[in-house]
Amino acid sequence: MSLPPGFLDELRSRLSLGQVVGRKVMWDSRKSNQGKGDLWASCPFHQEKSASFHVDDRKGFYYCFGCHAKGDAISFVQDTENVGFMEAIKILADEAGLPIPQQDPLAQQKADKRTQLIDIMEQAVQYHRLQLQTGQAAAARDYLAGRGLSPDAQTRWEIGFAPAHGGVMAHLTGKGVDPKLVIEAGLAAESDRGGAPYDRFRGRIMFPIRDARGRAIGFGGRAMDPNHPAKYYNSPETALFDKGRSLFNHGPAREAAGKGKPLIVAEGYMDVIALSEAGFTATVAPLGTAITEDQLRLLWRIAAEPIIALDGDKAGLRAAMRVIDIALPLLQAGQSLRFALMPDGLDPDDLIKQQGASAMQKLIDAAIPMVQLLWQRETEGRNFDSPERRAALDKALREKVLLIQDPSIRSHYGQAIKDLRWALFSARKSAPRHGAQRAWMANKDPWRREISPVATSKNSILGAGGASEDHLREAVILATLICNPSVSPDFESALERVECRDQTHQAMQACILRHLGADDLKSAIIAEIGAAPLENLLGQSHVAISPAVRKAGNMETARLCLAEEFAKLAARQGHAREIEDAVEDLSGTADEGVTWRLAQASAALDKAGRGDNEDKAEYETGENGALMNKDERSAFDSLLNQIAFEKGSARSK
Ligand code: UTP
Ligand code: MN
Repeated sequence: MSLPPGFLDELRSRLSLGQVVGRKVMWDSRKSNQGKGDLWASCPFHQEKSASFHVDDRKGFYYCFGCHAKGDAISFVQDTENVGFMEAIKILADEAGLPIPQQDPLAQQKADKRTQLIDIMEQAVQYHRLQLQTGQAAAARDYLAGRGLSPDAQTRWEIGFAPAHGGVMAHLTGKGVDPKLVIEAGLAAESDRGGAPYDRFRGRIMFPIRDARGRAIGFGGRAMDPNHPAKYYNSPETALFDKGRSLFNHGPAREAAGKGKPLIVAEGYMDVIALSEAGFTATVAPLGTAITEDQLRLLWRIAAEPIIALDGDKAGLRAAMRVIDIALPLLQAGQSLRFALMPDGLDPDDLIKQQGASAMQKLIDAAIPMVQLLWQRETEGRNFDSPERRAALDKALREKVLLIQDPSIRSHYGQAIKDLRWALFSARKSAPRHGAQRAWMANKDPWRREISPVATSKNSILGAGGASEDHLREAVILATLICNPSVSPDFESALERVECRDQTHQAMQACILRHLGADDLKSAIIAEIGAAPLENLLGQSHVAISPAVRKAGNMETARLCLAEEFAKLAARQGHAREIEDAVEDLSGTADEGVTWRLAQASAALDKAGRGDNEDKAEYETGENGALMNKDERSAFDSLLNQIAFEKGSARSK
């Protein structure tokens, strides 16, 4: 039996979980705080001497820190009395003095109505199938044959035909069905002018749509005339047909996916049919609308990583991007999407007809992860030859990544994007300037290239020991920013580019970026990451002796220290090329003297990039007293210039 909505909430709010549990346990009076509803006892679900079973009486939840048992009053009664859900409800309702309502008569009526409508829809499926065999459906049969659907396939998909004059209303009412129900089933509509209701589907090929349990809930009707303004006409929303929560071919696809077939999401009815007939039996489609959040949830119940196969046209790509936007906030571990991009202008049905199932299989095998499509959307066909453009790219991608709710997935996305970014911006290293980048961009299919793992290429430049030194530099940078938050906006892009070594550093980096320029950065770090990691950071000896941490509040010291540390990291991490780009941009606007210095810096950076060790022995003293070699010195200089330049251009905006 079903309970009316709100009943369980009412029941929970009338009960005290503390009282319910209190009959089974002895509270630990020293550990508990009755006034706050904070109650502790030895756990009734496992043997223990200490009190690790906690009841939050205000929230109505319990949790055992020993055996991890958790739940609310209902589950507590179920588990301690060994009764079912309804039985537990009865016990608790009695105790709360809340009568259990009898079955809601309206709900019963609704259920009856659905049963009637399902029956009517089933009759309509059979009516349309029969019509396809009649003399007036010759053109329809030719059309289907022309599309490669054998009579067997037509039977499998229960394809039917709605005659030009319709006829389903007359057929059903002739069998005693109430005309109102035919309208409620979405098969006919009331006429505007008060005349008799008319059949919705006329002169169309009919594709029955069934729910996951196989019950007919709607139709898609295709016009045979290629020039008809409404190519497809679908059932309206009815008590049975909720388009946003249904999928074409749901039941059979679920079954096939259970047997190991990859779950594919296509755009149209004919695609699902063509794919299934070609052996891709776990295929579904939305129903004439864009994919919804609910449909994604349905898909993830079937498979961890459904493959979205969208038409190879602009509309298809746009649809893919919409799917990404809906999917990002819903991502969880082991729950993602892949995208199979059809060749220009083809849908899966066309592709299979023209090139066979093997061509489709290749595309499925090569389906790209969502993060790559996301990246492609932001970068393809664009040029990132200025710091402003790169900053805009970073901002757009950051906004997308921030949509991800799951912290672990969010951080993996951030990392994946950093890797892609690195691959893109360092591509020019091995080819004439900009040529490589252009070639990379022009590559229609960059995702299938192997992208060299960042760490490997970095280490090859740095040699052993580089990682721990970088880690120390990161610590100094983070500490300096945390102690001098007002300078952080000037170093936004430099900070973003740092690929922090560990999770704590990554978390701090993200936190600083989120709170750029905020005075209370320290409290934000403590609130979001914790006091201990911050203490650890500031307590490290090389951090504590850094002038910008010791003399926190001295903006010039902080700026110089940051510029120097970022430059060293950049020179080491192969990001030198990015500074070089900035230098190049700058050289167009700067006076001769600066241009000369930049040319010098640029030459030195080239060496750093190539890993040239010849003049590593020459050291100079940096502004804050640290030793720098020549490459680092040059990188430092050019970064200072870049910062001056960025500040100048920000001011003139
Ligand atoms: P497509 O235009 O890609 O159709 O629309 P298709 O599936 O390839 O159809 P054929 O091959 O021309 O027969 C994709 C889906 O969008 C919905 C339908 O669900 C269709 O299957 N659609 C399309 C409509 O609801 N109405 C339309 O007018 C067009
Ligand atoms: Mn098609």
